[in-house]
Amino acid sequence: MTEYETILVDRKGRVGIITLNRPEALNALNTRLMNEVVAAAKEFDRDPGIGALVVTGSAKAFAAGADIKEMQDNRFPAVYLDDWLGPWDELGRLRKPVVAAVAGYALGGGCELAMLCDVLIAADTAKFGQPEIKLGVIPGIGGSQRLTRAVGKAKAMDLCLTGRMMDAEEAERSGLVSRVVPAEQLLPEALAVAETVAAMSLPAAVMMKESVNRAFETTLAEGVRFERRLFHAAFATADQKEGMAAFAEKRPAAFTNG
Ligand code: CAA
Repeated sequence: MTEYETILVDRKGRVGIITLNRPEALNALNTRLMNEVVAAAKEFDRDPGIGALVVTGSAKAFAAGADIKEMQDNRFPAVYLDDWLGPWDELGRLRKPVVAAVAGYALGGGCELAMLCDVLIAADTAKFGQPEIKLGVIPGIGGSQRLTRAVGKAKAMDLCLTGRMMDAEEAERSGLVSRVVPAEQLLPEALAVAETVAAMSLPAAVMMKESVNRAFETTLAEGVRFERRLFHAAFATADQKEGMAAFAEKRPAAFTNG
């Protein structure tokens, strides 16, 4: 497995695990970390032995945002020509489902990274926010868009314009997170979710992810049409035959991802 400097990479069964590891900077997202997370995630995405990913941080911080010290001297032409932060978009284009396991601070780019994932599990210690306004900027990895879609305009405006943090309970109430668990249960719960997903038919899981994500990108009529096409396509898979035969024969399904 590739050696990384700012992340730890591990695998458990069919689950690939990426742990942000810059404890000295509360996992602030510098360029190196961005490139490493994207490279590791794409490697897992290509790996036929992997069915789902988990992205996590430390007990104190999932990630405290983009690295302020690294970016403070940035100038417009360079970041524009570089499409700086563009590589994060690749995370949103992964085929396989990604579970974010968030404890502590998930601020700015940290909150945006969590929102790029598909299932967001929060420890009761998690704190979410888009505090960019306090730095004289706005979010740059989709925060103003994905937060608004997740929690609605009223709450998104409140959080983005004041830069305040919201705790896990408010985040769950607002629809930002999938589940809140006690901090010590965070990783076991996230792994259990990822293992459950990874045991499903991979084509079905990828179709499911694509179809749910389509709901954010198109009209209802187009989204339903898209879902119908994928639903029909599922009948071309061996896993559909196996899943339905297993139900009829009252036994667990053994999917082959074919
Ligand atoms: N960038 C760089 N370094 C950071 C950082 C960041 N985003 N967040 C924390 N650190 C560093 C601190 O500078 C400090 O380093 P030193 O020990 O060398 O001084 C170390 O991590 C520990 O941080 P604190 O001492 O500040 O820890 P704390 O517990 O007192 O406070 C905190 C925690 C409230 C999260 C505070 O660190 C903080 O406010 N961080 C910045 C949060 C932020 O503004 N994030 C948004 C960044 S902009 C962005 O993300 C843009 C985008 O959309 C892409």
